[in-house]
Amino acid sequence: MYIRLAILCLLKLAPLTSCWGEPGGSISGAGYDTSRVGPSNAVNVDINANETYLTKLFQDFISSYPYSSNFSDQYEDGTQVISDVYSISGTLCVPKTGEKDPGNVQYLIHGIGFDSSYWDFVVGSDEQYSYAYASAAAGIATFRYDRLGNGLSEKPKDAYNVVQQSTEVAIAIKFAEMLRDGSIGKYKKIVGVGHSYGSVQSQAVTAMAPDALDGVILTGYSANTTTLPYYLASAAPSTATLVFPGRFSPSDLPNAYLATLSPWTNQINFFYFPYYSQAANDRARMTEQPVTQGVLFTIGTNTKPATDFKGPVRVVTGDKDWIFCLNDCYAVPVGSSERNIPEFVKQLYPAASAFDTYIPANTGHALNQHYSAPETYQNMIQFAENVFQA
Ligand SMILES: *[C@@H]1O[C@H](CO)[C@@H](O)[C@H](O)[C@H]1NC(C)=O
Ligand SMILES: *[C@@H]1O[C@H](CO)[C@@H](O)[C@H](O)[C@H]1NC(C)=O
Ligand SMILES: *[C@@H]1O[C@H](CO)[C@@H](O)[C@H](O)[C@H]1NC(C)=O
Repeated sequence: MYIRLAILCLLKLAPLTSCWGEPGGSISGAGYDTSRVGPSNAVNVDINANETYLTKLFQDFISSYPYSSNFSDQYEDGTQVISDVYSISGTLCVPKTGEKDPGNVQYLIHGIGFDSSYWDFVVGSDEQYSYAYASAAAGIATFRYDRLGNGLSEKPKDAYNVVQQSTEVAIAIKFAEMLRDGSIGKYKKIVGVGHSYGSVQSQAVTAMAPDALDGVILTGYSANTTTLPYYLASAAPSTATLVFPGRFSPSDLPNAYLATLSPWTNQINFFYFPYYSQAANDRARMTEQPVTQGVLFTIGTNTKPATDFKGPVRVVTGDKDWIFCLNDCYAVPVGSSERNIPEFVKQLYPAASAFDTYIPANTGHALNQHYSAPETYQNMIQFAENVFQA
């Protein structure tokens, strides 16, 4: 089997309708129309490889890490250009009580295992975990969308050549443009906010389209890639339709769409006990979203220094983040000038107007689901306000 790496994706996204959110009010998603253009992709990957084969691929990928050339030599077959139209579900949330700084927006990109409800995470009637709510309460609009293959967005069958990092970055850049040019809103200033793999993409946006964002908050993130194999092994990513037979059907999702095998392989990666409520953990599991093997094999593909990005950058990562710090964000190399692992991200931002980190205590990778979330949100909202008022 061969995986082709997508290099450039020319996407057309149909416009969405906006929603009007308010603290305490419900925020609903808005769909996109879909139509396809261009040739179909040359696929020579078995997207329905069985669990035995998918597991073998993980063995080969993880054991060749970081010498990814070993894996590429065996399994990857050049690059291709994708030109396609995808149906993507997004939500523009504008505070009903009025915007504090009209004309500005936060642009939120969720990570793996979630859909955009990561940013509007409501447990029962408890809204303290909702970043969209906290932002609306502070008078700031937010835009969030379900990444390709997640939530209400389209789930392309090709879990290798299509649903992978490059395609997703092209979508992320496209949405930033639509937030500027009036297709979604005509925003003067945009603060990008990512979580985890969403931060990997926000970072790629600052590197590839340096004027798309005016400031960026990278949460659940660091530039330390040593820990990636720990994540891939400990999550035990398994065919989503087998893990969640009641939620995902083989007619919708090929085998190479994966989910963490059990609540505990999810916990080790996303949650640090006992600093979250069981109800929040249950909700995250109940709403867990799949990730393609193609995404997992291409996570780092677009990480390059954002040499031309001139806005401010803040990295917000829990001190107990497993995926990006291996449970200790203060485990910097001996003699290092940096105080914590996320501080090394500044090497990706030589031209940034400011760079700093915020490390919430007793917090695992899924920041928005831990008790520290409300305090973390105030830190992030303050950063956004500073960008808007600059
Ligand atoms: C899984 O797929 C591989 C490769 O196609 C095949 O060799 C193997 O027999 C299959 N295993 C099962 C249990 O179906
Ligand atoms: C993997 O790559 C490394 C570095 O290029 C090389 O030394 C090693 O022999 C390769 N291993 C295999 C199994 O191909
Ligand atoms: C990278 O992470 C590992 C594992 O946590 C840690 O030992 C190492 O010091 C980190 N290095 C840097 C440069 O952050």
